[in-house]
Amino acid sequence: MEKLQVAIEKARSQRQRTSPPVALKKAPERTTTLWEQLTPVSVSPRILERNRLVASTSGADSGPFDMLRTRILQQARANSWKRVALVSPHSGCGKSTTAANLAFSFERQSDLRTMILDLDLRRVGLAKILEQDCVRTMGDVLTGSVAFADHGRRLSDNVALGLNSSPVGNPAEILQSGATVEVLNAIEADFKPDIMIFDMPPLAAADDNFGFLKNTDCALLVVAAEQTSLDQIDVAERQLAELTNVMGIVLNKCLYSEGAYGYGYG
Ligand SMILES: Nc1ncnc2c1ncn2[C@@H]1O[C@H](COP(=O)(O)OP(=O)(O)O)[C@@H](O)[C@H]1O
Ligand SMILES: [Mg+2]
Repeated sequence: MEKLQVAIEKARSQRQRTSPPVALKKAPERTTTLWEQLTPVSVSPRILERNRLVASTSGADSGPFDMLRTRILQQARANSWKRVALVSPHSGCGKSTTAANLAFSFERQSDLRTMILDLDLRRVGLAKILEQDCVRTMGDVLTGSVAFADHGRRLSDNVALGLNSSPVGNPAEILQSGATVEVLNAIEADFKPDIMIFDMPPLAAADDNFGFLKNTDCALLVVAAEQTSLDQIDVAERQLAELTNVMGIVLNKCLYSEGAYGYGYG
């Protein structure tokens, strides 16, 4: 019996010595980030020209948008704000055109991650200006039926875009829902943007802004020179001030000659 025990021990120790070591494969490192998973958009020079997208390259034309970008950043940093809504008293003031140009301007600010989300769910805005086809909407994202990671697009590596393929039913109800609060918080937690810009419907259109702006840190009022009256600006500013912080006013569609500043660069 004792001999048998010794033989078993011997066999076991030989087996241990001769059996090859178990090779544990190193788990592959996760090389793609959520940002990299977003589908890249490509905007041709013709689209840029057709749709007043002047901020794609740094220069005299992009100057006002770069200035706006920098002012937004300064105010956001000074006040610890991240979520900025673009709002206007009436439609056609140029919010979506401004949002699209800011996308290019922020793209060149490559140390920052910026998200630009089209939350004017009543019409196709940003997707039309950038001439991008998509199948879902930000309404689908906000109601949780599609993940932003599957719907969002990106310009380079640092600007994410949330576009709409079509108008959405019940926009006001979606924008003021609890699901929207949760989805936006989750997007912010997952993607960790430095700045989030929301392209909103006009204040006069419906109650969309009134239900949504509680989710923002501040709003920029975009008005159109010679189209928006002082009364409209006044009313809009007061309405905004009751809903969020007013970051400032952008006077769009301004006619001025280069000499109006007294000097020109480039
Ligand atoms: N700075 C500008 N100068 C001239 N036209 C502009 C300017 N900004 C926007 N537009 C034009 O005004 C119209 C409405 O612009 P859009 O960005 O869709 O406005 P909103 O989103 O506020 O409704 C579009 O035809 C756009 O090309
Ligand atoms: Mg718009």
